[in-house]
Amino acid sequence: MNRRKIQDGVYWMGAIDWERRLFDSLVPLPDGTSYNAYLVQGTEKVALLDTVDPPMAATLMLQLKDVPHLDYIVSHHAEQDHSGSIGLVLEKYPGAKVVCTPRAKDMLIDLLALPEDAFLTVSDGEQLPLGGKTFTFLHAPWVHWPETMVTYLNEDRILFSCDFFGSHIATSDLYVTDEGRIEEAAKRYFAEIMAPFRSQIEKNLEKLKDYDIQMIAPSHGQIYERPEFIVDLYREWVSATPQNLAVIPYVSMHGSTKRMVDHLAAALTEKGVRVELFDLAVTDIGKLAMALLDAGTVVVGTPTVLVGPHPMAAYATFLANALRAKVRFLSIIGSYSWGGKTVETLAGMVPNLKAEILEPILCKGLPKDEDLKALDQLAATIAQKHAENGLA
Ligand code: FEO
Repeated sequence: MNRRKIQDGVYWMGAIDWERRLFDSLVPLPDGTSYNAYLVQGTEKVALLDTVDPPMAATLMLQLKDVPHLDYIVSHHAEQDHSGSIGLVLEKYPGAKVVCTPRAKDMLIDLLALPEDAFLTVSDGEQLPLGGKTFTFLHAPWVHWPETMVTYLNEDRILFSCDFFGSHIATSDLYVTDEGRIEEAAKRYFAEIMAPFRSQIEKNLEKLKDYDIQMIAPSHGQIYERPEFIVDLYREWVSATPQNLAVIPYVSMHGSTKRMVDHLAAALTEKGVRVELFDLAVTDIGKLAMALLDAGTVVVGTPTVLVGPHPMAAYATFLANALRAKVRFLSIIGSYSWGGKTVETLAGMVPNLKAEILEPILCKGLPKDEDLKALDQLAATIAQKHAENGLA
């Protein structure tokens, strides 16, 4: 796809990755993604904002074919899906300077082996004139790495936000056309990579209040012509409190744990607690991450394997801990055949979670009447705790 005009002297460049289904060998991409770069041409200087993931570098280089000169390559974020083609762009424009935060400079040297003298580091709030167009660089740490910044184009009032406000979506529509679709994609993105940094993101949102932003151009997904749509959602997500929702990630080998999960889910529903079940053998981890944003309680369902939790249950528990879910109550249910350390192992994996642990229920083989009664009691306890804590 060729470059596309956004305003006079401002163009979208980059690549749409329709087929990609996994990011960082971890995050599912059901709708693909895009790596957006932008070209800004002043009367005196020309700048490229970010690049593309290296496997798609040829697309960007083709778009740069009729750009004879480049003064700056602004690197908002050192992760390689945006920075990975900087070396190639520098080969074409050896005089261009890589503009970034001091911390990003160190990371780009580490990650891409770029030469020290290629850089122009900028301080927070520093301006860079291009002639009729002026950048203001705003350091915005931890969206979602420590070195990140965003760029405000003063005259056009466009915020180039890189990962901040992004969403993984491949589409030929440059601008948001379906806010419902983007809300889901952006929430998934927030849940997967931004959620652990809520407090820093809140500070960055505060910082943006001082700027009259008419458009937000992120480096994944579509451009927002109605910036308040995504800014308001981010405000909601960073400050959201847990809901009257029990999330049950589970795995079952021969059906015993599944029987317990189904029984608990029915009992919770009867008591007015919403439930979301995730069979970890087949689930989309992004959907689980989104549910963890809202969960008041998480109950992990696992059989015992090699004297501990099933590895997939350990994976989900590790994920909840890494994402610093705001969950208030935790429990474990499952089946074993001859014993093990399932509860101790999983309980030791959640140091980041400030949750109360509710009595786990492990049964030998198939759940018996007393196990089902214990599950009813667990459901009643969860409903009561949610009500006492005002979870709605
Ligand atoms: Fe889109 Fe953190 O890279």
